Amino acid sequence: MHFKEVNKDRIPQHVAIIMDGNGRWAEQHGLDRIFGHKEGVEAVRSVVEGAGEIGIQYLTLYAFSTENWNRPKDEVDALMGLLVRAIVAETENLHKNNVSLRAIGDLASMPVEVQQNLEGAITRTAENTGLRLVLALSYSGRWEIVEAVKKMANELKNAKIDKSELNEELIGKYLPTFGLPDPELLIRTGGEYRVSNFLLWQIAYTELYFTQKLWPDYRKEDLFEAVNDFQTRERRFGKTSEQIRI
Ligand code: FPP
Repeated sequence: MHFKEVNKDRIPQHVAIIMDGNGRWAEQHGLDRIFGHKEGVEAVRSVVEGAGEIGIQYLTLYAFSTENWNRPKDEVDALMGLLVRAIVAETENLHKNNVSLRAIGDLASMPVEVQQNLEGAITRTAENTGLRLVLALSYSGRWEIVEAVKKMANELKNAKIDKSELNEELIGKYLPTFGLPDPELLIRTGGEYRVSNFLLWQIAYTELYFTQKLWPDYRKEDLFEAVNDFQTRERRFGKTSEQIRI
């Protein structure tokens, strides 16, 4: 789908993506898995560009899950190397395009080189006002909920907060996604119909979109297609159709 065909009136503010299928793409091409991840970086580039073009304000990409640490060390190392290279190569480009970068996840568990480069890129792009690109790294939905509960338990104990204050809004403040609107659209590539521990709290009312396409084959035109599909949906938030239409 072409940029011009996208209805610009109802662009989701926040789109989240589970980028799946790199390994299978590589296998299909008779290559080592890491080449799938490498090609995946091309897909990231195209999708970030496309998101900016149609005015998506927040784009969150699941780049590395808590569970991904269980992959063979070679693959984890290669992914980390790829991440560093992508950050180094793309920061100026992101900056030129007014994109600001942010990361969520257990960043302290990432290799120091990733942490340093990431921090540099985040600082460099901090003042930008265009697309907010959020990388989920060493991230999982349950992990962030556990972390939030620990912090809240501490603050309850120290009487910094009171039990009577506990509500959805307060819990949201303890999550690393604080300040981001909930995603309106979650896309998963690679033909699997799962949420895989991604943004569990935040996707309560999110529209889900699944595609068979493997991530390395995904391009901005496919994102436009997903946005177009999103625009045909009626979001009721628990209400009836009649209530929504008035
Ligand atoms: C899932 O495919 C993909 C990942 C675990 C890594 C995603 C990383 C990138 C696209 C590259 C770096 C990202 C940025 C933001 C520059 P899979 O390996 O699970 O595929 P499979 O299900 O076919 O095995």
